[in-house]
Amino acid sequence: MWRSWPAGRIYTTWKRSWAFDGRPGRALPVPLLCRYMVPAMPARAALTRMSSWIQLSVTVRNDLVERVGEQLEAAGALAVTLQDAAAELLVEPEPGAAPLWQQVQVVALFDADCDSAAIIRGLHAQPALAGVPVQVGQLADCDWSGTWRDSFRPTRFGQRLWVCPVDAPAPDGAGVVLRLDPGNAFGTGTHATTAMCLEWLDAHPPLRGAVIDYGCGSGILAIAAVLLGAAQAYAVDIDPQALQATRANARLNGVEAALDIRLPADLPPQPLDLVMANILANPLQRLAGELVVRLRPGGSIIMTGIIAGQEGAVMAAYADCIDFAPPLRRAEWIFLSGTKHSSGAACKAGR
Ligand SMILES: C[S@@+](CC[C@H](N)C(=O)[O-])C[C@H]1O[C@@H](n2cnc3c(N)ncnc32)[C@H](O)[C@@H]1O
Repeated sequence: MWRSWPAGRIYTTWKRSWAFDGRPGRALPVPLLCRYMVPAMPARAALTRMSSWIQLSVTVRNDLVERVGEQLEAAGALAVTLQDAAAELLVEPEPGAAPLWQQVQVVALFDADCDSAAIIRGLHAQPALAGVPVQVGQLADCDWSGTWRDSFRPTRFGQRLWVCPVDAPAPDGAGVVLRLDPGNAFGTGTHATTAMCLEWLDAHPPLRGAVIDYGCGSGILAIAAVLLGAAQAYAVDIDPQALQATRANARLNGVEAALDIRLPADLPPQPLDLVMANILANPLQRLAGELVVRLRPGGSIIMTGIIAGQEGAVMAAYADCIDFAPPLRRAEWIFLSGTKHSSGAACKAGR
């Protein structure tokens, strides 16, 4: 059986997924994928020494993925990755679940001197895979970690807020600069949902306020809030890797003292001025009571991670507590902002 590579991140919920090891020089050429699997650690070590690879790619129904992978692994694959073959968006898996797309592209990397014809014959020898088209290509080596970083450049959000990779110089005249090494967690600002939150924060700086970033990923929203003037920020996530990345990024930006990083279950009851949650529509609905109860009357909430068409259900879950501004949309993603009723009288979700 395969096993997933524990250091690799798995994003099955976001269309623009990526995975990488996160450690300098250890990232692999698999920028868009669902699951990253390696057959064994020695093979992984071999990957870092190779100067080029042969890449075999085959698209199959999801019930054949395991068989194809095992066959490729038995033939000596150094890494096997699974990618979406038909632009199918997978959303809302249960925690710990890693569902597959209907049609999956299985991509395997082999040593440059492998016998690709023999590998294809091996695949075709399986009745269910007879005649399945297999694409063969050569993949030159490069700094894959650097390749990923190329898509993450200093970027401005709103008027003043810049997000810059840890090792890139900030542009002249940049106002508020947030340094980021996202590690293995989500959140560089390149995703539309994060970008909409950062732009809102830039336009509505939570001066001297107490805020929470619920589902903090890299910690980007909590750190931005503090850099823009918040007195205190909670950053919570169910993923320990996210908490780790947030801690590192807080240090990088010198805001550790203002950040309280923890699991959601450990949150103290404290009324906050701003709740930020970039998670998905279902968790946002489930968490309505939990999020609203943390908001003081008159406080603000911003939510995203909502796919167009789902906003009505999310707004309905908060309707008796929150007055919403008109939803914003970027690509297929919706951003909601609202204010908690000052009386809180009819606020069932927040009780
Ligand atoms: C899309 S990322 C957002 C990261 C960052 N806040 C941003 O805006 O870029 C969503 C994060 O929410 C976390 N998450 C998902 N469900 C959650 C839940 N029920 N409670 C807390 N965190 C959750 C995930 O682990 C992930 O790190």
